[in-house]
Amino acid sequence: MNMVEAKDFRIPIVGLGTWALRGRDCARLVEQAIRIGYRHIDTAQMYDNEAEVGEGVRASGLRSEVMVTTKVQPTLLAPRDLERSVKESLARLRLDAVDLLLIHWPNPRVPLAETLGAMAKMKREGFTKQIGVSNFTVALLAEANKVTSEPLVCNQIECHPYLDQDKVIAACRKAGMAVVAYSPVARGGAKDDKLMERIGKAYGKTAAQVCLRWLMQQGIVVIPRTSKAERLKENFAIVDFELSDAEMKEIAGLARRGGRIVDWTWSPKWD
Ligand SMILES: NC(=O)c1ccc[n+]([C@@H]2O[C@H](COP(=O)([O-])OP(=O)(O)OC[C@H]3O[C@@H](n4cnc5c(N)ncnc54)[C@H](OP(=O)(O)O)[C@@H]3O)[C@@H](O)[C@H]2O)c1
Repeated sequence: MNMVEAKDFRIPIVGLGTWALRGRDCARLVEQAIRIGYRHIDTAQMYDNEAEVGEGVRASGLRSEVMVTTKVQPTLLAPRDLERSVKESLARLRLDAVDLLLIHWPNPRVPLAETLGAMAKMKREGFTKQIGVSNFTVALLAEANKVTSEPLVCNQIECHPYLDQDKVIAACRKAGMAVVAYSPVARGGAKDDKLMERIGKAYGKTAAQVCLRWLMQQGIVVIPRTSKAERLKENFAIVDFELSDAEMKEIAGLARRGGRIVDWTWSPKWD
């Protein structure tokens, strides 16, 4: 298993995203993914599937080998809310602790230092092994790393060839944090990409696999989601080929204005 190291923490480079996976299908897919070899599962309070994710992890019989991430929703970042919500997440997951706990989105209504203080407390008290952030900008990363008492191991951000994230990736690297790419196959948009399809043909790989490999080859962790068992295997089979420098550059050229999929404009408007 390929790993990305950040601040003495090792993150399996291919994980399973679970947003929008629900019910028995979710539990079954998580279990199948782990059987195939996935050792990293990503959930969140907002996905309403922590119970099923926990069920899938337990059913695999491999809990101790699997890194489980959950994320605190942005309306619960005040310390008391955060602490209560993390304990509720663990009860839903039926786990003693998660491996990684993230702030899902920044919330400007709650001082970051207070939230990070509560995150650090969760780590010290054993409810999570590590802490990190998600959807943090360059400026927020600088502030977060300045005030946190525990190391922040990653920033989970939207990342795929259609979006130029060079600045925030550079900021993560400078801070020694891993980059975890969400929507890594552009919510399925990569699968019909002509350039990545053409490149993939030479390696016997699909456009989606080329897309994931392009991220992985930059040391970026990927967490593609699929509701289909056969695609679990496809998305995991990206370690047995290598893109050339020229191909890496060509794919980087796909970045365009308006390439972002997940809407950020609602984030400052928490009520
Ligand atoms: N931190 C955050 O704010 C945040 C935001 C968004 C997402 N995330 C996390 O990141 C994970 C992944 O992101 P995402 O779910 O937005 O998007 P994604 O993984 O880029 O795309 C998922 C979509 O792509 C399709 N797909 C997956 N693999 C494929 C393949 N090999 N070939 C063709 N189509 C494929 C899936 O369809 P099928 O089901 O039909 O295969 C699904 O519709 C989420 O599930 C979640 O865990 C985090």
